[in-house]
Amino acid sequence: MNHFLDIHKTDPAALHGIIDQAKEMKQARQGRPKGMTDDSQPLAGQMVALIFEKPSTRTRISFDVGVRQMGGQSMVLSGKDMQLGHGETIADTARVISRYVDLIMIRTFDETVLTEMAEYASVPVINGLTDRTHPCQIMADIQTYEEHRGSIKGKKVVWAGDGNNVCASFLHAAAQFGFDLTFTGPAQLDPEDEFVGLARKAGSKVVIERDAYKAVEGADLVVADTWVSMHDSQSSKERRHNMLRPYQVNEDLMSHAKPDALFMHCLPAHREEEVTSAVMDGPQSVIFDEAENRLHAQKAIMRWCLGV
Ligand code: CP
Ligand code: NVA
Repeated sequence: MNHFLDIHKTDPAALHGIIDQAKEMKQARQGRPKGMTDDSQPLAGQMVALIFEKPSTRTRISFDVGVRQMGGQSMVLSGKDMQLGHGETIADTARVISRYVDLIMIRTFDETVLTEMAEYASVPVINGLTDRTHPCQIMADIQTYEEHRGSIKGKKVVWAGDGNNVCASFLHAAAQFGFDLTFTGPAQLDPEDEFVGLARKAGSKVVIERDAYKAVEGADLVVADTWVSMHDSQSSKERRHNMLRPYQVNEDLMSHAKPDALFMHCLPAHREEEVTSAVMDGPQSVIFDEAENRLHAQKAIMRWCLGV
């Protein structure tokens, strides 16, 4: 079964195939109204459940629109309104939902909810973000990078800030797509050793550099994310902000990267915190292309999962 649980758990050939198909499907829709279906209807007759245990704007809308454009039907479900949020086991939930739908996408907290869902579901399961990883986002980011600059292989990506779930999926992608990653942030917020090790083992150069200015030297891509993720306690906010302030991506920091370096952020962003508006709205920023490409990349991911 083709579950899309994480980038490092997916075969590189499949990952490249997904990116290529995402680009093709995007191209084929040029100038078409967003509510109009694609010419080919690969999801005709298919039902997709989109389960959210955390808030979402991009993931929710892009998956829902993507299913409809491909001729399928979708339902957006809130975890807390399901029995899942009131004591029914994940295994039973997975087995029940599999009797109704052809594909499940879930955004949850603990990664074990996702893996258990996949273990017991008899239909493919897609990771729509956990506390630990966010693979769909990084597939859209790779598509975005390549649309602007060509292959990401051998490029230098700099992650500035918290070594969080999105950073983890970038490390997985470094391993699978063959790029290098420099992490710059406080030691308390380093990415997990397991993920750093995985990328290094695959041959990627992974550097941990505490000085943000040194880190961005020679960067082809600079990436930031929120300093307080959805799974972080609000009481840690002040401490995190104090630790992370030196890692804000601003015009001065960007000027130390390569002149043609791109800036990415998965959004939602906190302007003037992890990144300034001048960078977000500046010429190097591709943040809204990333957001758009969630739609195209996820359509290709769903097709791969369903084999259609
Ligand atoms: N980037 C992203 O996953 O956004 P949402 O939380 O709005 O889905
Ligand atoms: N790191 C962020 C990403 C949001 C899309 C979070 O988990 O809240």
